[in-house]
Amino acid sequence: MSTSTQSLELRTFQAGRDGETADGPTAGWLEADFLGFLGRRPTEAHAAALGGYLREDGQELTGVYDTASPEHSLRPDIPVATFASFEKPLTVSPGVQLKAHLISSVTVRATHRRRGILRRMMTEDLRRAAEAGFAVAALTASEASIYRRFGFGAATWVHELTVDTDARFALMKAPSGRCSVVDPRDIPALAGTVFDAFHASQPGSIGRHAQYSDRISGTLTDEGEEDRARRAAVHYDESGVVDGYVTYRFGGWETKPHAIEVNDLVAATGDAYLALWQYLASVDLSTRVTFSSGAPDDALRWALVDPRVLTVTNVEDRIWLRILDPIAAFSARRYTSDGEVTFRVVDSLGFADGFYRLTAAEGAGSLERIGSGSVDIEMDAWVLGALYLGGADPRVAAAAGALSEVVPGSAETLQRLLAPAVPVYCNTAF
Ligand SMILES: CC(C)(COP(=O)(O)OP(=O)(O)OC[C@H]1O[C@@H](n2cnc3c(N)ncnc32)[C@H](O)[C@@H]1OP(=O)(O)O)[C@@H](O)C(=O)NCCC(=O)NCCS
Repeated sequence: MSTSTQSLELRTFQAGRDGETADGPTAGWLEADFLGFLGRRPTEAHAAALGGYLREDGQELTGVYDTASPEHSLRPDIPVATFASFEKPLTVSPGVQLKAHLISSVTVRATHRRRGILRRMMTEDLRRAAEAGFAVAALTASEASIYRRFGFGAATWVHELTVDTDARFALMKAPSGRCSVVDPRDIPALAGTVFDAFHASQPGSIGRHAQYSDRISGTLTDEGEEDRARRAAVHYDESGVVDGYVTYRFGGWETKPHAIEVNDLVAATGDAYLALWQYLASVDLSTRVTFSSGAPDDALRWALVDPRVLTVTNVEDRIWLRILDPIAAFSARRYTSDGEVTFRVVDSLGFADGFYRLTAAEGAGSLERIGSGSVDIEMDAWVLGALYLGGADPRVAAAAGALSEVVPGSAETLQRLLAPAVPVYCNTAF
């Protein structure tokens, strides 16, 4: 595809590789992506590895090229803006997945910002995603003020957990199974099954892109090198099957108290999760563990003899959802209570705009379009995205004025209808 506005040309192409190296358009696009996210210029080998991952994911890359750049500017094949999209499954209820349109690598060069380039890339991409039949689009945001205008609402959060692992750390009950230290380079071979089991039952979880296993094992960091400080442990259940893993690194002798920084911790069972924390706490010479992607409803707090050794030191939004097809999205997820509510969605991009009735009975739900007129609730498209998985509370949205309760009590009805079977959480960033 190729369109032009003045000197700017927007091109969308599949990530590609040319033998051992990233092909020309992909290599130029990667240069721009790293520039936008304040990274190092990728080496040829790094670009080749990344090109391979992007290709494996089937990522569709968009670059905006300035055909009138002045002399000495970066090469013309390095775009002034980047955008990527690809498909991964989103777990919307335990055991129920929906293919999601993921958006990533959104950058616009400082010299070209605030000219509507992001708006153009985003609206064209969302239109293609809707035409391709995606019910939801998702992204993770580096700034929280950008994406509501495009109909995205924050739908899952992560808590940064800081746990003091000195003598006060103790679990009420010893978890079953055992832990073992493994070579982090073996994690990619072990992590897939563990993640798949976790992912299948965890609403909010998003399938991981190809680069993830090398990223968590430290084989290839964002700097394009191996992180030789990366360490790993796994948990075996009582029959000897690996059902959890953790990768981490020591934060350095300069940091006091000496701390371990968890890079990724995934467990398919509660015992595996707690046993891995027990392992981390038992590492000598460190008296603190930090984990920036913890679940908001964390089981460790319940399991600790002294829950105050755990502090939430940061809260961040993780997945932002955009509903492209409300009927498909709301009919796919499961419901934990029966009832009915009507609402109006105002969507400046049109995809979700309309009047709807949501009905749920015996776990299943359906959403249907109704004629315009009086409804229980009115909300913007970004609020619909935020509420979809049930991780955000419509009553709080109403109190904040983000949702308008036309019929008193209807926000509570919606909250009851959308309440998830288990708390939502996503431990994947993209
Ligand atoms: C964020 C970024 C992509 C915006 O690109 P841009 O081309 O300047 O954006 P546009 O000109 O198309 O602006 C689109 C709209 O978003 C708004 N907007 C853009 N960047 C914003 C920001 N950082 N904060 C708040 N609003 C922002 C604009 O005001 C505009 O609003 P309007 O259309 O409702 O009037 C660009 O500044 C950038 O590359 N930043 C660094 C990398 C980054 O943070 N990427 C986001 C990754 S999730």
